[in-house]
Amino acid sequence: IRIAVLYGGPSGEREVSLLSAAAVLDALRSSGMEALGIDIEPARLQQQLQDERVRIAFNVCHGAIGEDGLLQAVLETLAIPYTGSGVLSSALAMDKWRSKQIWKAAGLPVTEGMLMRQHDPRPDLAANFTWPLYIKPNHGGSSLGVSRVNGPEELEKAITDAFALEDEILCEAAVIGHEATVGIVDGKALPPIVIETPHAFYDYDAKYLAEDTRYLLPSGLGAGKDAELQALALRAFAELGGRDWGRVDFMISASGKIHLLEINSVPGMTSHSLVPMAAKAVGMDFPELCKTILRTAQR
Ligand code: DAL
Ligand code: MG
Repeated sequence: IRIAVLYGGPSGEREVSLLSAAAVLDALRSSGMEALGIDIEPARLQQQLQDERVRIAFNVCHGAIGEDGLLQAVLETLAIPYTGSGVLSSALAMDKWRSKQIWKAAGLPVTEGMLMRQHDPRPDLAANFTWPLYIKPNHGGSSLGVSRVNGPEELEKAITDAFALEDEILCEAAVIGHEATVGIVDGKALPPIVIETPHAFYDYDAKYLAEDTRYLLPSGLGAGKDAELQALALRAFAELGGRDWGRVDFMISASGKIHLLEINSVPGMTSHSLVPMAAKAVGMDFPELCKTILRTAQR
């Protein structure tokens, strides 16, 4: 069997993907598997997959092309089995606004939001939100282009920064409390992790560079809340049609109310990432995690 770890591509999360790929390749090889890394080039993707005679793809591309359904569509057309969610659910999970609409319709708790398009009239955000609020690129990842806006004087810059990355951006109500995340592997929810950072929010720096981000596992929320988060993660994942593995991000308010933020259909797989951390807590080490994800792709 020819296993290819697909990574890289042109997205803003390219650097994270290089780290995920190095870790996964190392794990597969240390488990005695023959695996080859492919840095995807969108214009030559089909050629790359055919030249290397890829029989199964372990996808660790984050963000545009690799996580948003486009890569999945190419793999489907070539009938190459691949890890993770399919075309539609990948595209939906990448789209924070449309994920929110589906979850709302299903009665799941989301943060209030409003979509803005580059060339449309600007809605009156001050009339619809209180401060602080968040401005995010609608299809972003790793918090790139995300701003916490504490007052009207910070709004313009936040909007300009987000529109610099894409034409659709999201304004979201801030939930003051904790950020939590639930990994899903082989269709089962891992224990929740609560994230604490001295930064204004869990931004790119806090995710990948800072030494002072704290990961609480066990979460400290109590068994009842953990179970509630896990059940909600599985529901939210199922509503978008997610498959096999992913990670669901939440905010929990000070009063304990849970809000869905988004799903990552190709979560980070670096040695410091959240899904590997949660897997380890249930006795699944990194190589075992990689093998499990790969196995689910083959069914
Ligand atoms: N988007 C990054 C890779 C994550 O969710 O882990
Ligand atoms: Mg994300």
